[in-house]
Amino acid sequence: MSKTLRYCMVVASGCALLAISCAGVAELKAPEYSTSLAPGETRLSAFKDLFPEQYRLYARNNLSDLDTMTEYGGAVNFDKNNDQDPLPEGYRNAQPYLKALWLGYPFSYEYRAARGHSLAVRDILHIDRINRYGDGKGQLPATCWTCKTPNIPRWVEEQSDAKFWSSEFNRYRTAQRIDMEDESINCANCHDPRTMELRIISAALKDALVRRDPDWSWEKTSRNEKRTLVCAQCHVEYYFTPANQGVAAKPVYPWDKGRDPEQIYAYYDEHGPASAPKGFEGKFYDWVHPVSGVC
Ligand code: HEC
Ligand code: HEC
Repeated sequence: MSKTLRYCMVVASGCALLAISCAGVAELKAPEYSTSLAPGETRLSAFKDLFPEQYRLYARNNLSDLDTMTEYGGAVNFDKNNDQDPLPEGYRNAQPYLKALWLGYPFSYEYRAARGHSLAVRDILHIDRINRYGDGKGQLPATCWTCKTPNIPRWVEEQSDAKFWSSEFNRYRTAQRIDMEDESINCANCHDPRTMELRIISAALKDALVRRDPDWSWEKTSRNEKRTLVCAQCHVEYYFTPANQGVAAKPVYPWDKGRDPEQIYAYYDEHGPASAPKGFEGKFYDWVHPVSGVC
C-alpha cells in the first residue's frame, strides 16, 4: 500500500516536472497590443502616452552626460578625428586615420562619433557631409535618409520607386516633410503601430532576403531572427545601385553570395558601374581615393 502510494507520488511529481519543463521550453512571445494608432504613423509623440516606459528608455538616447558614455562614445559629442584631447573615460579608441581613409568621399566630412537614434535627423541636418560636400550644392541622393527616419515608405509611395531614391537629399529636409525630433529613427522603424509586433520597413533588407530565398516571409521568421533583422535594416554593409543596374541610387545589400566579408567582396567584383578606372573594370567602387588612386 505504502509502496503503491510512493509510486503514485513519484508519478505525480514526475508529471508535474514534465509539465513545468514543457512550459519552460514553450516559445516565449512578446506581449500583443491593439492600439488606436494609424498604420502609417511615424511620429514618436504618437507612441509616447501609450507606451510611457518604452518611451522613457528611448529618450535616454538624448542624454549627453558622462553617465551615458559607452566604449563607442554613447550620446557624448566626442570627435573621433581628434587625437589631441584625452579620450573620454570608457572610450576605446580615437580613429584619426578615418579622415585620410575617407578622403574624396562625403564620409571624410565630420565622421565623428556614434550618437543615439533619437539624434539621427538632427545630426544629418547639421553635418558638413550634407551641407558642405560638393559646396553644399546637394550632390547626395534621398537614399541617405534611409537609416534616419521611418518616413521612407511614405516618401517612396508619394514619389514612386523609380524617382525617390535618386531625388535630391535636401528636398526632404523642410519642416513640412520631416520633424527633427518626432520623425527620427523611432518605434515605427521596428514596430507595426497597430499591434506593436516587430516589422521591417527597409526595402533593401526585404529585397535581399527574398533574393536569397524566394519563399522568405516575415511570418515564417523566428522571433530571435526578427530581433536581429530590425537592426539589420540599418547596421549593415550596403551600396547604392549604379544607374546602369536598376533603380538608380536604391540601396542594395551585397548578400547574394553570402554574408561573410569574402563573399561580399566577390559579389562586388561583379556589380560595377558602367565606367571604372583601368584595372577595376566591371567591379563596384564607391569612389577613387585621390591620394592612393585606388577604388
Ligand atoms: C530599433 C528597433 C526598435 C525601436 C526603434 C523600438 N523598438 Fe520596441 N522592441 C524592439 C525589439 C527588438 C523588441 C523585442 C521584441 C521581442 O522580444 O520579440 C521590442 C519590444 C517592444 C515592446 C514589447 C515588449 C514590452 O516591453 O512590452 C514594446 C511595447 C515596444 N518595444 C515599444 C516600443 C516603443 C514605444 C518604441 C518607441 C519609443 C520602440 N519600441 C522602439 C525593437 C525596437
Ligand atoms: C532606421 C535605421 C536604424 C535602425 C533600424 C537601427 N539603428 Fe542603430 N543607429 C542608426 C544610426 C543612423 C545611428 C547613428 C545616429 C547618430 O550618430 O546620430 C545609430 C546608432 C546606434 C548605436 C550607437 C548609439 C550610441 O549612443 O553610441 C547603437 C549601439 C545602435 N545604433 C544599435 C542598434 C540596435 C541594437 C538596433 C536594433 C535593435 C538598431 N541600432 C537599429 C540607425 C539605425
